[in-house]
Amino acid sequence: MKNYNNILTETQDALGIITINRPKQLNALNKETIAELHEAFDDFNKDDNIRVIIVTGSGEKAFVAGADIKEFMNFNAEQGRELAANGQELLFDFVENLDTPVIAAINGFALGGGLELALASHIRIASDNAKIGLPEVSLGVIPGYGGTQRLAQIIGKGRAMEMILSATMIDANTALNYGLVSEVVSQPELLDAAKRKAGQLLKNSPKAQSFAIKAINAAYTRKGFEMEKDLFGQAFATEDFKEGTTAFVERRKPEFTGK
Ligand code: CAA
Repeated sequence: MKNYNNILTETQDALGIITINRPKQLNALNKETIAELHEAFDDFNKDDNIRVIIVTGSGEKAFVAGADIKEFMNFNAEQGRELAANGQELLFDFVENLDTPVIAAINGFALGGGLELALASHIRIASDNAKIGLPEVSLGVIPGYGGTQRLAQIIGKGRAMEMILSATMIDANTALNYGLVSEVVSQPELLDAAKRKAGQLLKNSPKAQSFAIKAINAAYTRKGFEMEKDLFGQAFATEDFKEGTTAFVERRKPEFTGK
């Protein structure tokens, strides 16, 4: 197994397990973590012995609390668009289109880019302490890793609109009720539950599964994703973005002016 700075990887028989490992930052996705995740997913996908990939977060608090706000808060509009475009290409679109099925085991906060990673995965299960949301508009920005598209695809436009515009978190049972996750278990049981789910997949044809993933994904157009990248970048040029991200770092409530 390769050594990474921000993630851990292991194999157990036909399973490849990836654990995002920045617990002090609640596993927030900085550029380096995204690059490492790309490499780990790519390696497992190319390995014919690995039939299912499980992705989870380390610690008991977070799956992933989002993209790393401190890394991008001083970016301009162009850098903001590039952040979304690179992230989507390297990780979110990449995971969605893998041949090998990916199960996200959501073990706590799955916010912003964290929820977006779970949405790009093929199956999601959660522990009962999970808190799930796309809080980007509370920072003066929008989801930029496919969240505006995939959340609506999975739970419907009405609920996605409400979650994104209110920036509120839902709990694990609400997520189950919305069809956002397919199972909720206690935190100590989560990895075993993910492995049980993987066991159901292992009985079937990997070739047919990879064809099914392609066919299901083909139903969705790319136009919305392009629009999301553009608007994500545009948000970086607003005063509200500066205020929202600065308020996060200063641990205070933002005062938005709409400029
Ligand atoms: N980026 C960078 N650092 C983060 C982070 C993030 N997304 N989320 C948490 N952290 C850091 C905190 O700054 C803190 O670091 P310090 O100890 O150095 O101050 C550490 O992780 C622990 O977090 P908190 O002290 O805030 O923990 P808490 O229990 O009080 O709150 C929380 C937990 C509600 C999840 C809170 O951390 C939070 O609101 N995080 C941000 C969530 C968010 O807005 N995510 C969306 C990011 S934007 C995005 O993802 C854009 C995109 O689509 C591309």
